[in-house]
Amino acid sequence: MRVSPDRAELLALAVSIADEAGRMLVAKRPARPEVVETKSSPTDVVTALDRAAEELIRARIAAARPYDAVLGEEGGDTPGTGGARWVVDPIDGTVNFLYGLPDWAVSIGVEVDGEIVAGAVSVPQRGELYSAARGEGAWLGGERLRCNTGVALDRALVATGFGYDSGRRAVQAEVLAHVLPRVRDIRRGGSCAVDLCSVAAGRVDAYYERGTNYWDHAAAGLIATEAGARIGGLRGRPHGTDMVVCAAPGLFDRLHDLLVPLDPERDAPAVH
Ligand code: IPD
Ligand code: CA
Ligand code: CA
Ligand code: CA
Repeated sequence: MRVSPDRAELLALAVSIADEAGRMLVAKRPARPEVVETKSSPTDVVTALDRAAEELIRARIAAARPYDAVLGEEGGDTPGTGGARWVVDPIDGTVNFLYGLPDWAVSIGVEVDGEIVAGAVSVPQRGELYSAARGEGAWLGGERLRCNTGVALDRALVATGFGYDSGRRAVQAEVLAHVLPRVRDIRRGGSCAVDLCSVAAGRVDAYYERGTNYWDHAAAGLIATEAGARIGGLRGRPHGTDMVVCAAPGLFDRLHDLLVPLDPERDAPAVH
């Protein structure tokens, strides 16, 4: 059964579920959360609350829109016929959550016809809720967001992350050594979703990372683009696990060109 998905309704639901899950996580976070599993590497941890938050989010989606599909980091892919697919990262920044650092987020993006049309990112320990609907701007609570523009590469504060697959560590260090002397400074915040929302809010000028997953950037990528940023991969490829670059258009090009020489895929044909 396909129920016509109205963007405003999808956004309102995403915001309310992200908010509820964020509050639950803050209320239930023990002083020392326990690691229940590791994934691609010992750094890539899962706590019981990653799973509990995803279960809560799935239950709320199922109650409101029982026929929709869901893709969640912890629960995988659940197909549906309802016209929307919910892309969920129940805790983005689990390592921060584990250590009691505040920059972790509940991220919920809503995809219709293969395109993210609404997104909500709750950063509950900062009391912040970011949201966007395609074509209708990005918001932090009631404040409209605009990314920084007109920033030169050597004056840019650049957020990055180091995707957890241990096979990538040496390449990540090589890319960082290349980028660091050419920008104002680097921030490794620990949550891809928060990093992209920080681009939207002008708290950093740009972001790049290799090795993220769709649920990391589905919602926050829309928030950044609705705040005026450009998001993409290298040499015309869409952003994805290979690379996510995000910044206002001029700076995007400069950062992109800085990253291309270190792209492991640089010998493959460019996409036009
Ligand atoms: C991770 C965070 C981190 C990024 C990793 C992600 P998780 O997500 O976004 O900042 O560097 O690539 O996997 O595992 O904490 O949900
Ligand atoms: Ca994870
Ligand atoms: Ca994540
Ligand atoms: Ca996660």
